[in-house]
Amino acid sequence: MCGIYGYVGSNNPVKKAIEGLKKLEYRGYDSAGIAGVKDGKILSCKEVGKVSRLEEEIEKSHLSLDVAISHTRWATHGEPSQINAHPHFDDKKSLAVVHNGIIENYQGLKDELKKKGVEFLSDTDTEVVAHLISHFYKGDLVQAVKETVQLLKGAFALAIVHKDHPDSIVAVAHESPMVIGIGNEEAFIASDPNSFAPHTRKVVFLSNSEIALVKKDKLEVFSSDMERLEKKQEELKVGVYDSSKGQFEHYTLKEIFEQPQTIRNALSGKINEELGTAVFTGLQQELPRLGSVSRILILACGTSWHAGYVASYLFEEFSRIPVQVEISSEFRYKNPILNENALVIAISQSGETADTLAAVRELKAKGAKVLALCNVQGSSLARESDYTIFLNAGPEVGVCSTKAFTSQLTILSLLALLLARMRHLSRDEGVRFLNHLNKLPDLVKSILEEREIIRGIAKKYSSFDNFFFLGRQYMYPTALEGALKLKEISYINANGYPAGEMKHGPIALINPDCPTVALTTNKKTYAKMLSNIMEVKARKGPVIAIASKDEKDVDRIADDVIFIPETIDSLSPILATIATQLLAYYIAYERGESIDQPRNLAKSVTVE
Ligand code: F6R
Repeated sequence: MCGIYGYVGSNNPVKKAIEGLKKLEYRGYDSAGIAGVKDGKILSCKEVGKVSRLEEEIEKSHLSLDVAISHTRWATHGEPSQINAHPHFDDKKSLAVVHNGIIENYQGLKDELKKKGVEFLSDTDTEVVAHLISHFYKGDLVQAVKETVQLLKGAFALAIVHKDHPDSIVAVAHESPMVIGIGNEEAFIASDPNSFAPHTRKVVFLSNSEIALVKKDKLEVFSSDMERLEKKQEELKVGVYDSSKGQFEHYTLKEIFEQPQTIRNALSGKINEELGTAVFTGLQQELPRLGSVSRILILACGTSWHAGYVASYLFEEFSRIPVQVEISSEFRYKNPILNENALVIAISQSGETADTLAAVRELKAKGAKVLALCNVQGSSLARESDYTIFLNAGPEVGVCSTKAFTSQLTILSLLALLLARMRHLSRDEGVRFLNHLNKLPDLVKSILEEREIIRGIAKKYSSFDNFFFLGRQYMYPTALEGALKLKEISYINANGYPAGEMKHGPIALINPDCPTVALTTNKKTYAKMLSNIMEVKARKGPVIAIASKDEKDVDRIADDVIFIPETIDSLSPILATIATQLLAYYIAYERGESIDQPRNLAKSVTVE
């Protein structure tokens, strides 16, 4: 994870770096730092905590730099501390390095350097890079970086400044994102182009250990063996979004409330009412192949994996295509068997999740074509996949994913419809499905309007430390997602389970101090869910049911019920999730937790 931002130009590099770093805080926020060149010296400032702490220190010290690199960290090697915060330096402090990724062979390199008398100050893998560049430096910084990079194994994006080169940043990227923004007499480097989008949309992406020498008016890019490259300059497509919290206390709540609109965005332009099917303009040339898809493989992590899991039920029920859903980090330990009629779908809000990118690269190496579902334009996944469907949900700032999940489900529902219509599903059935989809934004709105009911229930249960979330069929992955939300932002131990599995072991944990959130909105499994609720109640476990408004019996059995509007089973994950999101939010709020930036997490998980 970690975010890198750098600036070359005469427009206050320190201010620019802090401004950019704040936009990258979603990538980690346990410490932050900045370094650059001033009067032939490397000057720096590092602080534990968020970028605002760094900003306060910089104001006190009046730090001024001619060129700046900066970093916001999510700790991998070494605890969050001032010493382990980036940038890192060589022992003469002639250069500074910031790094995103993991140098897998750092220990061996460190041992070698120690034998040569080099002293290390930090526990990080990054510090070896600073010492190695210094060791190879003979006046040509790019050459020294090249010699260093040849020794590194792992994934890395690096930015380096040197006291002898006050007009330059050297940047390099290998399986971690790094993009250069080309402005007017100024240049930017960053882990994410959206961080400098207000200043320039002209970008050059680095990959495969490419090394860039970035000056305010000149960019040179070299391959890892120092061949000069003509890199294509691209135009960044970034929408204009309101990035403030608006009337909301947290981004997470704002993003929960944006869902009527983000679901509309996901549907927009993708519906053919007349034919009762879905349209994906970017997939037109793939249509013949989609017609013959005989298997679907879905790759994702975390919340995106939950969306893929829900979709596996959808694709099998509607499109009658067998689906395999894999957690990306585990998938790579399999030797995947792919046939040419397989459709690979990679789902990632950020498009930067290292595990998902690694799985995609493995499949592409085997000749697969990959369709990505992604929210971030210009992200690594979008660039590396053959086709991308964008969520158009706008930036998701809260670390826990909310609106991206419901947008993913909306798009996956449309994709399932398209595949079903290309097979056996009739036009009338397609039209009926679309009618239900079109109603979702208003139904979501009506749940949001009843937030005070959910808030009251959250207050009542906020002191419990263990929860179960149970569901069957579509509600099983929905239960997983509900439990994940609660874990992430309130630090409560919450287990998502298929309701039918409880009796095979987990029911031993049920007691009066362990509430169960029972998701009963699937009509097909309603009766069985009621039996499972009875089993929990028989063991004195409190039950909060999330039920459709037409399900009346549940009221008599559960301790509390959050009623949500009725829809078809396959779309009920979207509505039930709005309720679980609000429940998690208000419980975390009651407990006074850091909702937008929970401890130990980062928005973009760029390490394996
Ligand atoms: C949960 C959450 C994470 C992400 C996961 C994958 O709220 O945010 O579990 O869903 O890290 O991230 P993306 O979708 O960016 O690949």
